[in-house]
Amino acid sequence: MKINVVENAKSIEADILVVNLFEGERTTSDIANQYAIDEDNFKGKFGETYLLPTYGKEPYRKVLVLGLGKKEDFCPNKLREAIAKSVKKAMQMEAKKVAFALDGINFDYSEQFTMGALIADYKFDKYKSEKKDNKISEIYIQANENNVRKAEKIAAAMTFTRNLANEPAQFATPSELANIALDLGLDTKIYDKDECEKMGMGAFLAVGRGSAEEPKFIHMKYTCDNPKKRIAIIGKGICFDSGGLDIKPASSMLTMKDDMSGAAAILGIMSIIKEFSPQIEVHGIIAACENMPGGKAYKPGDILTAKNGKTIEIDNTDAEGRLTLADALCYACELGVDEVIDMATLTGACMVALGTQAAGIMGNDDTLVKNLIDTASRNGERFWQLPLWEEYFDSLKSDVADMKNSGARWGGASAAGVFLQKFVKDVKWAHIDIAGTAYLEKPQKEFISGATGACVRTLLGYILEQ
Ligand code: BES
Ligand code: MN
Ligand code: ZN
Repeated sequence: MKINVVENAKSIEADILVVNLFEGERTTSDIANQYAIDEDNFKGKFGETYLLPTYGKEPYRKVLVLGLGKKEDFCPNKLREAIAKSVKKAMQMEAKKVAFALDGINFDYSEQFTMGALIADYKFDKYKSEKKDNKISEIYIQANENNVRKAEKIAAAMTFTRNLANEPAQFATPSELANIALDLGLDTKIYDKDECEKMGMGAFLAVGRGSAEEPKFIHMKYTCDNPKKRIAIIGKGICFDSGGLDIKPASSMLTMKDDMSGAAAILGIMSIIKEFSPQIEVHGIIAACENMPGGKAYKPGDILTAKNGKTIEIDNTDAEGRLTLADALCYACELGVDEVIDMATLTGACMVALGTQAAGIMGNDDTLVKNLIDTASRNGERFWQLPLWEEYFDSLKSDVADMKNSGARWGGASAAGVFLQKFVKDVKWAHIDIAGTAYLEKPQKEFISGATGACVRTLLGYILEQ
């Protein structure tokens, strides 16, 4: 979709001109008035749309009036959602050119305007033999050009991530993730199984042992002259989570190709980072493998030794993400960075707590956590803090090793958090559990079902603010 920034969208020869109406207000759009909105049928409620014909009298064929809800509730996040609705509507109508002439919308909203259009203009149809040609080719908006171009890059990173997380596990293997990382043109090192063994990554390697796919540990680095700060971002990269020997029930396994959504987010972020040339150093880290129940699979009762020497008794082979992250966290802490942020589809418990509406966040530094929560809300995502009290470790105590990888059922998201903390040393750290937000089984807000590119907008926003 090409986005054209124009002075006057009403003069464009388009299939549809989108105008807006706030709930309970009369429209200031002469166009909408001229072709008469039926106020009994259309009140301007949030996300409502109303279509008016123009009888060939205007450059555009139809006017789509977009309800924006109550003016006092309006904000950039609402605008993004509403724009996404209108774009979806235009796609249904098979419109190719859509112009937007919105009244009373601040130019500061241009970034979320663009994000709404580009997030809605997404499909994953590469495996359909008959593709529907309902993509919009051009839109015309009156907006701040710089903000539009910035949002285009962020949206491209999200699309990259969504495509990768939607890709079936048969193709999106650990080796494939490694190849994708190598193609990004950054300073990248891929460690194979033997090299990981030499580094002492006994927890990560155990998880990958039951699979025919080779594990890959991926480290990408973006840097600049005199970086103001150095951060490491880590993504859980379980290319398929069958549960291992503690195998999942069929229905829980259905979406488990998405268990590398954290990794896909890291690759999406790293795919665009050079184009922004931020003044900080960013390390993108992924411990990629599959969790499968093959003959060499790790077993309940096994005792693993992580990179920092800590021993872990396996209580449940389905609590695998934290094992791979344990070694990745140790590795990241040894880089001597200022901050480490991990994102992971880590626990069903987080999804039970927050649903698909928010990611859970916890960490050892309140300022970092609060900063990320604020950055998320400004960039259209929701993070919600969960506690990281040491008491959650009680159920992870082991009689034979330093800890177990799982314990009580209750408070599972926080228990996973305190487990991860045992592998974090001398660094500010935040952990984001995206089990609920990374992949949707039903459409939600601006998203169709499938991968959402969770964390990409927020982390890029965070990196650009440093
Ligand atoms: N990948 C899952 C978590 C998950 C569940 C992500 C649902 C997205 C949707 C993770 O590896 C897992 O299996 N966690 C277990 C942990 C338990 C065995 C302690 C869980 O949450 O049930
Ligand atoms: Mn699992
Ligand atoms: Zn998992």
